[in-house]
Amino acid sequence: MSLEFGLKNLDFKRRFLLRALILSLPIGAVFSGLAFLHIIPISTACLCYFVNLFLNFFLLFPISTELQILRHYVVSLVQGENIRPLALSDGDIRDVAKAIGTLYKLLMSKTDTLEAQALSDAAVFDTLPDPILMLDNEGNVTNSNLPARLLLGEKIVSQNIDHLFSTNIFIASIEKVLKDKSESESVIFHAPEYGNRQIYAHISGLPRELRGRAAAVVALYDISKALSLEKMQSDFVANASHELRTPLSVISGFIETLQTSAHDDADARDAFLAIMKEQTEYMSNLIEDLLSLSKLEMGQDKALQDKVDLHEVIYDITQALKFKAFQHSVNVTINELNRIPKIIGDNQQIHQIVQNLLDNAIKYAPENSEVTIELKTVPEIPAAGQGVAQGRAVSIAFNNKGQKINKEDLSRLTEKFYRMQVHKDMKIKGTGLGLAIAKQIVLHHRGNLTVTSTTYNGNTFTVYLPIKQS
Ligand SMILES: Nc1ncnc2c1ncn2[C@@H]1O[C@H](COP(=O)(O)OP(=O)(O)O)[C@@H](O)[C@H]1O
Ligand SMILES: [Mg+2]
Repeated sequence: MSLEFGLKNLDFKRRFLLRALILSLPIGAVFSGLAFLHIIPISTACLCYFVNLFLNFFLLFPISTELQILRHYVVSLVQGENIRPLALSDGDIRDVAKAIGTLYKLLMSKTDTLEAQALSDAAVFDTLPDPILMLDNEGNVTNSNLPARLLLGEKIVSQNIDHLFSTNIFIASIEKVLKDKSESESVIFHAPEYGNRQIYAHISGLPRELRGRAAAVVALYDISKALSLEKMQSDFVANASHELRTPLSVISGFIETLQTSAHDDADARDAFLAIMKEQTEYMSNLIEDLLSLSKLEMGQDKALQDKVDLHEVIYDITQALKFKAFQHSVNVTINELNRIPKIIGDNQQIHQIVQNLLDNAIKYAPENSEVTIELKTVPEIPAAGQGVAQGRAVSIAFNNKGQKINKEDLSRLTEKFYRMQVHKDMKIKGTGLGLAIAKQIVLHHRGNLTVTSTTYNGNTFTVYLPIKQS
């Protein structure tokens, strides 16, 4: 096998012959010297030289062949090919092959452990909720976790950070850390390329002795939601105080007038007291609405476990608002298009939705007009978005006639304290919180609230509530 193997391999054959020739050179020189000095004849010198060459050839060939087999064996190991046991006759080469085999097995088991470790590290890395990037000395991404890929795209590895972000202060902070001018940096910046999110970034340089491919770790936190929530809260407090301050200053103004100039004017006193009563009513409604809202916001995790009979709710509220409807000369009719099952929810909260929507329908309907409440079941909640339940639901549509609501108003009606200018001008009383409360409750029930407005059909506020809460 060895001879055949060796001869097939031209490179090996050339190298082997060269080695045999080089080994024979000193003996060749000695015999040439002896022949030159006429101590032995040239023919004897030639014969001795060729005998030596033949012996070298004979001794070297098996060792070279086995070394060649060993080389192929190592190459096969490196290439991960199937390894067959080696048939080596030279004891030393056999020992070397054995040692290489043991080393290879050890290396493989270490590689397996390392691969398993790398996989589990990547899985842990991916479960971290915030985007994390690892950067090399040049600012190229060497690794990223799943949230980072979701935010910045799948192909971020190997991209330079300044291709991913254009915000100068962020790039400058990274450079500072990579150039060892700072151990870590924190910045807040806008990322126009990612929906103009506000991002808080923390960049930490890895200690020099621990730096492999990665030189710095960048953790990104999307703080847009937290900031807008904070703004909403402070706007809410500002709005609520403003809404309370207005009637309070009206009341204190009238008290002052009653104490001074109108002290003895009975007519003025009656008129002022009526206004003050109206203002206190408004204040108490506002406080009630504010309390409802804060109770709702705090109890978002409250379990929904009442079996709510919507007929009963609608009947109760229609009765309660009968007098208001009568005062406005509005006729309320209820249409039940199919049999409505009981739904799972919070009985009191569903009363509040119906109360707020029916109150609006009556309040904003023109005099001598018709308000209808249409009840039906639907197979799915339309325009289902995040958090909206799937499956069968009940829809309750409140319709009143009136001027068509323009697009801008339509999109803002459920904002806290938002009231349409036309209704403020008409001095229709309200706090601007009714729809915000209804929307909160609907969301808590994983339902939906839609508004449509047309010149011909008037305004329709439809509440969708899932029949079951899964
Ligand atoms: N049925 C409706 N028809 C016309 N406009 C409505 C209707 N319901 C609500 N609106 C408009 O939406 C605004 C917000 O409603 P809401 O939150 O209930 O506050 P409020 O009724 O206290 O003003 C109202 O001020 C009004 O301008
Ligand atoms: Mg209202």
